[in-house]
Amino acid sequence: FVFQVYCLSSATNSELLSRHKRVWIIDSFEIEEGHPGPFPYELGKVSVDREYRIYFELHGQGVDEEPMGVISIDEHSGMLNVHKAVDYEKWHTLELRFEARKIDTSIDTRLGIQISIKDINDNPPRFERDLYEINVPQESTQGSNLLKVHATDIDKSETLNSTFHYEIKSVSPNVRDTELLIDESGYISFKGCLNYEVAEKFTVVVEAKDHGEVVKLSSSTTVVIHVGNGNNHLPVISGQTGTGKVKELVTGVSPLRLHVTDKDTPHTSGWRARYTIHGDEGENFNILTDSETNDGILTVVEPLNFKNGAQRELLISVENEALYYSCEVKERTPSGLWKVDTIKGHDPSGETVVQFHQRENITIVVDTNDPPEFNVTLKEVTVMENVPVGTWVDKVTAVDPDSSYSKEFVYKVGNDPAGWVMVDPLTGNITMIKTPDRESPYVVNGTYTILVYAVDKGIPPMTGTATLHIHVWDQNDNVPQLTVDSLDVCVSDAPTTINFEAFDPDEAPYGGPFTFELLGNVEGKWKLNPDYGYAAGLVKEPGVYPGQHMIHLKISDMQGAFHVYNLSVTACGCTVTPNCQIRQNSEIKLGPYALCIIISSLLLLLFLLLMALSISTKREFITIEPEDCSVGILLQSNTEAPGDNCEVTV
Ligand SMILES: *[C@@H]1O[C@H](CO)[C@@H](O)[C@H](O)[C@H]1NC(C)=O
Ligand SMILES: *[C@@H]1O[C@H](CO)[C@@H](O)[C@H](O)[C@H]1NC(C)=O
Ligand SMILES: *[C@@H]1O[C@H](CO)[C@@H](O)[C@H](O)[C@H]1NC(C)=O
Ligand SMILES: *[C@@H]1O[C@H](CO)[C@@H](O)[C@H](O)[C@H]1NC(C)=O
Ligand SMILES: *[C@@H]1O[C@H](CO)[C@@H](O)[C@H](O)[C@H]1NC(C)=O
Ligand SMILES: *[C@@H]1O[C@H](CO)[C@@H](O)[C@H](O)[C@H]1NC(C)=O
Repeated sequence: FVFQVYCLSSATNSELLSRHKRVWIIDSFEIEEGHPGPFPYELGKVSVDREYRIYFELHGQGVDEEPMGVISIDEHSGMLNVHKAVDYEKWHTLELRFEARKIDTSIDTRLGIQISIKDINDNPPRFERDLYEINVPQESTQGSNLLKVHATDIDKSETLNSTFHYEIKSVSPNVRDTELLIDESGYISFKGCLNYEVAEKFTVVVEAKDHGEVVKLSSSTTVVIHVGNGNNHLPVISGQTGTGKVKELVTGVSPLRLHVTDKDTPHTSGWRARYTIHGDEGENFNILTDSETNDGILTVVEPLNFKNGAQRELLISVENEALYYSCEVKERTPSGLWKVDTIKGHDPSGETVVQFHQRENITIVVDTNDPPEFNVTLKEVTVMENVPVGTWVDKVTAVDPDSSYSKEFVYKVGNDPAGWVMVDPLTGNITMIKTPDRESPYVVNGTYTILVYAVDKGIPPMTGTATLHIHVWDQNDNVPQLTVDSLDVCVSDAPTTINFEAFDPDEAPYGGPFTFELLGNVEGKWKLNPDYGYAAGLVKEPGVYPGQHMIHLKISDMQGAFHVYNLSVTACGCTVTPNCQIRQNSEIKLGPYALCIIISSLLLLLFLLLMALSISTKREFITIEPEDCSVGILLQSNTEAPGDNCEVTV
């Protein structure tokens, strides 16, 4: 406690002033702040050298001004007493007024007193904050300032009691490759490498400690350093799935998926893969990343053409969204920063990027379009003859082996000679659009054959074929038919038989053998022999005269289905012409000149006939009965066809 006395308002005469200077000797005292007591204690004595009695009075800070009641003065002895402790950090000095009075209370001397309070080291340096937190990227370089802590000590400045330093007391976790430092200004930095995978965060306790000679005071704060997650691992191509095949002229399909593994934290930019295609001159492909699996999905965006090559060679590289970073401590030097090797991924557009890429050669095969295939290529179905239009026949099924063309094909009728069916383009359902007739010329052996196509939408379209055998179930929808519509018969006295045939397009049991029957009154004129079978014989009896005859012939099949034919039979003399038909035709067609020749010829023939008759009569008389010309002179035929007549021997 330094006790200083200044002349503030001395006596008006200069003599007194000079005396004061001589009398007042400045003493040095030391009084510490925060004195432990006991109180009061004597600080020192103010002695004013006078022959007469004087009284002392004290006013000002520490007495009747804040901080009150610290100091008092003994009015007789001038002894200063301290009654309580004073805090330096509140009051560096106390200013007081000291008065000495005579007996008559007039002021003898009025002086000012300034009491300085001496600091002790009672305050530690204090940090601005109890907790500092910061995020730093793991790519931060060693030695760079990460953050600054700040503390202040309110003890008397520029003394050791307020001078302090920072110190790292603890780091958790304690990592071999990272050492944290703090400099005298409070900047925190590190040596070595930061690695998120080794330490996501560091908790650092920093202490500030002053340099007090008697006591050293300190306080601490906590610094939390969060290390950013980065790309510590390259994506590695682990395989591929997919056919690797693309149909030509198809887009939107994905022939291939690339799989990668990446040891970085999933769904961070250090994990997410980014794929690049190299060597895709036609820009036919695109590759996207599956955000869930990180797979690379190769997709065809421009159609491929087989003409331009059967396959495409592509190189696909993969990298992460975040640049790759690695840091390795090579040597822990005793002073300064350590020796470390760091690798940072380069700009992806740069050349040097290649070494950070995983690359994979892939081959995409361009496939031509395959036709749809029927699962059954030959089908046999049976259809009743004469079923109505719209009857369902069958259903065909095809699949397209080109998955990309799946369902992209239609069914069509390929070959359907009689135009019987139609096929549903989408379902393959086949229905009749005509009434089937087993007797159609297109039905062979009761089977009608059609082709069904499945045509896809490729360019050019490809076609699959199935054959359908439609077996037409017979019905008795036909009556027996005659092979001739007229007959010739020779007029003679003896009975003559002409054979004729019938047929039925229906198969057994709807066809022959047939039953023949003559209708009407034919007694003595015509009869049938035989009248059952595929052929019948018409027997002319003597009551028939030359000329046109109409007979009503009923022919029935096995099931009794029948038809009555009006059969025209020409009876004529067979001596002149072998065939009635020819004679009739000749008569009709020849002109008058020819007719004249014919008439004269006939006259000649008649003459010859008469001659022949006279000859034969003679012979006949000897050997043969005149009725039976067929036995001796005329040849008899049992297998008559039109014009098969008796011959004349000349
Ligand atoms: C500092 O404080 C101590 C007590 O803690 C005291 O003894 C010393 O005198 C002070 N030093 C200064 C320069 O004020
Ligand atoms: C990819 O193919 C090229 C050329 O054929 C070859 O030089 C390269 O080594 C291949 N790369 C891989 C990763 O197979
Ligand atoms: C053909 O495919 C159809 C429809 O899928 C099916 O009903 C039928 O049984 C298949 N036929 C054969 C021989 O696989
Ligand atoms: C096929 O046609 C029949 C008859 O018209 C019908 O009942 C059936 O449902 C059709 N089937 C399909 C698959 O369309
Ligand atoms: C019709 O069927 C018969 C016997 O079943 C056979 O001999 C003949 O060759 C077949 N004809 C045709 C054109 O298939
Ligand atoms: C057959 O003759 C009968 C009776 O003369 C007649 O009613 C019928 O119409 C004729 N039929 C044919 C097909 O000419």
